[in-house]
Amino acid sequence: TLDIIIVKDQEAGGKKAFELIKEGMEKDAKVLGLATGSTPISLYKEMTASDVDFSDMISINLDEYVGLSGEDTQSYRYFMNENLFNQKPFKEMYVPNGLADAETECKHYDDIIAANPVDIQILGIGGNAHIGFNEPGTPFDSTTHKVALTESTIEANTRFFDKAEDVPRFAYSMGIASIMAAKKIILIAYGEGKAEAIKATIEGKVTEEVPASILQNHKNVVIIMDESAAKLLQ
Ligand code: F6R
Repeated sequence: TLDIIIVKDQEAGGKKAFELIKEGMEKDAKVLGLATGSTPISLYKEMTASDVDFSDMISINLDEYVGLSGEDTQSYRYFMNENLFNQKPFKEMYVPNGLADAETECKHYDDIIAANPVDIQILGIGGNAHIGFNEPGTPFDSTTHKVALTESTIEANTRFFDKAEDVPRFAYSMGIASIMAAKKIILIAYGEGKAEAIKATIEGKVTEEVPASILQNHKNVVIIMDESAAKLLQ
């Protein structure tokens, strides 16, 4: 079932998501699946401002650019350090290694997920309903894999880099099946740009063309959104 919570703004959404995480931690959640991007920033603010201790917990991030080291300011590892881990270290903080060979790294990451099943997975959603780097058409049975970024994603990212050829062409991403294995999933969406994706995810049919629609088949999903993201819902 998809449990829907509509919040006033991103700050309220971050507070709500953190409440759910704390409830989970009281019931012994030990492994958090984490995302990057703009959406979870208000949640990470709540986490860093709190007095909650995560040093007993494990985090597993969804994805990383291929070819970037964790010191690269564009890497997702760097983003996580800046927004969460520097202030609130976990016992183990996994992000795919963008410098490692694809076959080895994807297998290694799947082993990490298998050894540390995710209790609560935080997700953002793309305007095309992608989750992680799983773009429309990604098989629902996918595990960690190497993804070729779409032209539009590369173009959108160009502004963050000095030269167009510096923009990563590939990423490592947890697959749809890896994400669905989480015991609980919290999907967060803010803004009008997410309204179509949210409608298709919640009210549309379950199809690989709408990656997040698979969440209809998960038994414990909470979707936190603001009114703009909810505006097309019936
Ligand atoms: C990031 C990730 C992506 C983002 C999505 C939304 O780790 O997996 O799927 O969650 O692209 O991005 P924002 O939050 O920037 O709108």
